[in-house]
Amino acid sequence: MKLGTKLTLCLSLIIVLVLSGYGYLQILARRDILTRKMEAEVRGTGRTLKVSLEKISLPREMEFVQGLIDAVGEYEKTLGVIVYHEGKDLIFRSSSLGDGIEPYLEMIGRSIREDRTLEDFGVYAHHRVFSYAFPLKDRKGRNVGGVCILQYTTFMEEDIRKAKWSIFTMIVLLICGTVALILFATRRWITHPISQLTERTVNLARGDLHSKIDLKSGDELSDLARAFNRMAMDLRIAREKMIEEAETRLELERSLRQSEKLATIGQLASGLAHEIGTPLNIISGRTELVKKKLKDQEAVQKNLEIVLLQTEKITKIIQQLLGFVRKKRPEQKPLDLHALLEMTLDFLDHQIQKQKVKVIKETEGPLPAVVGDPDELQQVFLNLIFNALQAMPDGGTLRVSASSKRIARERFTDRQRSYVEVCVEDDGVGMEKELMGQIFAPFFTTKEGGKGTGLGLTVSQGILQDHEGWIELESEPGKGTLFRVFLPAFEEESKHGKSGL
Ligand SMILES: Nc1ncnc2c1ncn2[C@@H]1O[C@H](COP(=O)(O)OP(=O)(O)O)[C@@H](O)[C@H]1O
Ligand SMILES: [Mg+2]
Repeated sequence: MKLGTKLTLCLSLIIVLVLSGYGYLQILARRDILTRKMEAEVRGTGRTLKVSLEKISLPREMEFVQGLIDAVGEYEKTLGVIVYHEGKDLIFRSSSLGDGIEPYLEMIGRSIREDRTLEDFGVYAHHRVFSYAFPLKDRKGRNVGGVCILQYTTFMEEDIRKAKWSIFTMIVLLICGTVALILFATRRWITHPISQLTERTVNLARGDLHSKIDLKSGDELSDLARAFNRMAMDLRIAREKMIEEAETRLELERSLRQSEKLATIGQLASGLAHEIGTPLNIISGRTELVKKKLKDQEAVQKNLEIVLLQTEKITKIIQQLLGFVRKKRPEQKPLDLHALLEMTLDFLDHQIQKQKVKVIKETEGPLPAVVGDPDELQQVFLNLIFNALQAMPDGGTLRVSASSKRIARERFTDRQRSYVEVCVEDDGVGMEKELMGQIFAPFFTTKEGGKGTGLGLTVSQGILQDHEGWIELESEPGKGTLFRVFLPAFEEESKHGKSGL
């Protein structure tokens, strides 16, 4: 239930209770006033009758007495009067009264005996009545008789009923009015501001930091709204700062990766120079031959074809080199890892030949595609393969394999998904346990003489993290090292993959 509704209900209940209590007390008070009024009226009539009746000689002026009490009985609110003369045992009664007056005669008798006025409420001939009895005295002050006046209480009841209705109507109107007022007030000052606050908080949680609350009620809720606006602004500033910092960090990381790339190229430079040198030698040799055998059309043709072939080879090497070192923003596209690995091995071909390393390529059916940046992932594989080559200075076997498997990542054991696993294994120097714990640290290298930057694995790990992948390693000193790279597959079964490297 909403706060506004709760508050309205609670306040309304209090108001209903208070006003009902007030109404009840009002009715009681009205009844009391009306009763007193009626009693006073009857007492007044009684006193007048007493004065008149005590002045006359009762037994003698019977007709006057009868006339008097009949006249009183004619008053609409009076039911009748009974006069009793004790000495002569005479009873006068208004003609409006019938039988069954004994209780009132008994009341007169009691008032004479006790020498005081008596009052009572009762029922006479199905009418609710108020009876008032008093003694009559002669000139010497002796009790000679008594009078009882019977007054209808119906008039009073009628008045009370009317009063009840008017009080009830007034209270219902008051309750409706105040409840409406409370409803209006809670809506305006509580429900509306709170729902505005809630809505803006939800927007904020969804990331809309420009959400602002405009409350001018000048109460605690508007203080809260101001605090909320301040918080949203602080968050906005913090987010902008964070984005800025992240961009700077990203830029730094990109530069670091680029530097690492250039350093690797630097290390490969001699090999590359050699690779370009060989076709250049061939070109110069063949050009020499052409110069000598200009007249031999067939020889010219054959040698020029060789020159062309070697030029293409050089172009390819330079294109590969430029492609690798060019700096560009990382992109996301489906990649064929087989082709990427093939290209990388191609790039290191001279080094492989030079070190007399045997390369074994292993594949397991078609590979699912991996989404990522081809240059960045090539940098990873180049690092791993180059490290493996550096670990086998006197030759050895390099195993490169790629396969797909469904596994759950260690940290997220609950969810299995498809990964492509690329393994780079060498039978080189291997690593001690202690060394294995350090190799991913930036600038950590065991290679001397400018052969290592210590950034290869750091950068590779960063790139893999960006691709939601990771790297694992197994190594034994003197036996070799195995690096496993895991990259999430783009789809379950890929049509992009080829079965051979
Ligand atoms: N295949 C491997 N065999 C043995 N040691 C390795 C291998 N790959 C990496 N290492 C160790 O990890 C260190 C860090 O590698 P890396 O980050 O690529 O930097 P760098 O190659 O420039 O030294 C290397 O210096 C080497 O000691
Ligand atoms: Mg390296």
